[in-house]
Amino acid sequence: MARFYITTPIYYANDAPHVGSAYCTVNADAIARFQRLLGNDVFSLTGTDEHGQKLADAAEKNGFSPREWTDQTSALFQQAWDGLDIANDDFIRTTEPRHHETVKAFLSTIYERGFIYKDNYSGLYCVSCEDYYAEEDLDAGSCPVHGRPAVQMSEENYFFKLSAFQDQLLSWYEANPTAIQPATKRNEALSFIRSGLKDISITRTSLTWGVSVPWDETHVFYVWYDALINYLTAIGYGRDQERFAQWWPAVHHLIGKEILRFHCVWWPAMCMAAGIEPPANIFVHGWLLVGGKKLSKSMADDDAAPVKLTDIAPEVLTADFGVDPIRYYLLRETILGNDGDFSLEGIASRYNSDLANNLGNLVARVATLVGSKCDGIGPKVNKNSALAPLAAQVVAEASAAWSAFQPSVGLEVTWKLIAAANASLEQAEPWKLEPGEAVDAVLGDALEVLRLVAILASPAMPSVCQEIWGRLGLVGAPTDGDFATATMWGGYLGEVAVVKGDPLFPRRKV
Ligand code: MSP
Repeated sequence: MARFYITTPIYYANDAPHVGSAYCTVNADAIARFQRLLGNDVFSLTGTDEHGQKLADAAEKNGFSPREWTDQTSALFQQAWDGLDIANDDFIRTTEPRHHETVKAFLSTIYERGFIYKDNYSGLYCVSCEDYYAEEDLDAGSCPVHGRPAVQMSEENYFFKLSAFQDQLLSWYEANPTAIQPATKRNEALSFIRSGLKDISITRTSLTWGVSVPWDETHVFYVWYDALINYLTAIGYGRDQERFAQWWPAVHHLIGKEILRFHCVWWPAMCMAAGIEPPANIFVHGWLLVGGKKLSKSMADDDAAPVKLTDIAPEVLTADFGVDPIRYYLLRETILGNDGDFSLEGIASRYNSDLANNLGNLVARVATLVGSKCDGIGPKVNKNSALAPLAAQVVAEASAAWSAFQPSVGLEVTWKLIAAANASLEQAEPWKLEPGEAVDAVLGDALEVLRLVAILASPAMPSVCQEIWGRLGLVGAPTDGDFATATMWGGYLGEVAVVKGDPLFPRRKV
């Protein structure tokens, strides 16, 4: 049994979750669920990033202490993920004692190894990014991500000797060509490293809301510097060596493209400095866009966009479309790694075409026909069906796609099987035939296709697939059993009652 550790970024708890945060979380969850389906031992982690200036500002603006504010907002993330059926194994909050302890242990190690020193620093700072910018990287003095003017800051800080890791990082990436995916993002990281690395300021004296520096309590660690370490906190770094060794460094960090530099440059260098292996894999996804823009709460206020992604709470969408259809849309619509357009029309059209007209239609048709032609008892699948080779190919391609962090492709190929079953029904027209072998053959095939689809699509739509499983008269869950055996053509043994339920996906107006 292989081990599979997957993480999402920890979300800033300055505000409630929105569709953009749901995008990454649902993708990580579905990828983790596919790995569980394959029989691997999975640990999936998400959580909230609760320190820093931006958080302290948001708390103050809302009339709360940072602690009260993060308690509320972090709970909103946990509720949102429950509402999206996210099966994370842990939820980390950076304000937890276990995290403070780990940050202190990890950074003390780096300090003791001589990679942290004290110096004066002044520069242009974006509070939304919680990061300094070189003047040439700003757009007319404003942050290129948030459009806000960068402010001049000056502090006496501790610095991490990032510059000392330039060559080591390059040779590490050379030796590990798939460490950053997709390749375009790897190239971006490599060219950043090649352009020359400067030491980074890792502490602040201007605020107290953070993890205090163990060897100098007048400083707190810069929020990014503490946040990255969450990936180690959750697996017991410094507290449980055996557990830590089980999960590290074979980790998959799923991240959005704007936080590439922190994860692909700083983070592996920090690991090297502390004497542990860098993360094995960082998968970089694009943004969901509305009208061509990534919109976030921290955009300049005068931004006049028609719909703000950040104003769309995940629960509003799931209340309207259902949990599984929203998960399906977030996984299917955009190739992970690319940017994608988000729109309500897009959800409705994907829902109608893939879910109502294809999957829902197949389930309804088959159940109705089994009712009228087979007394409601599902016929056994024909092991030598013409659909068997296609099914084998779909299982192989879907598994490969999910394992390569391509849920959209995994689902697209799975839907080929649904299309083939619908097509063979159209061709055989069992509704015109008398009960008998020909009817049993085409319905047995369709039931087997639905059984396979319920397994393959379960990481995307866990509840719907469980419902289909039950309607086929099958016991247990689509996720039970050994994957290779369960996905072999011929598993539907028939002679069980097929249930005709309500439409799974009532059609919607686009
Ligand atoms: N707190 C840091 C991450 C620290 S990880 C050690 C952070 N938080 S965030 O809340 O601003 O963003 C978290 C993730 O959400 C990022 O990967 C970001 O790309 C993702 N998304 C936020 N808006 C998004 C879209 N509109 N589309 C897709 N993902 C986006 O950065």
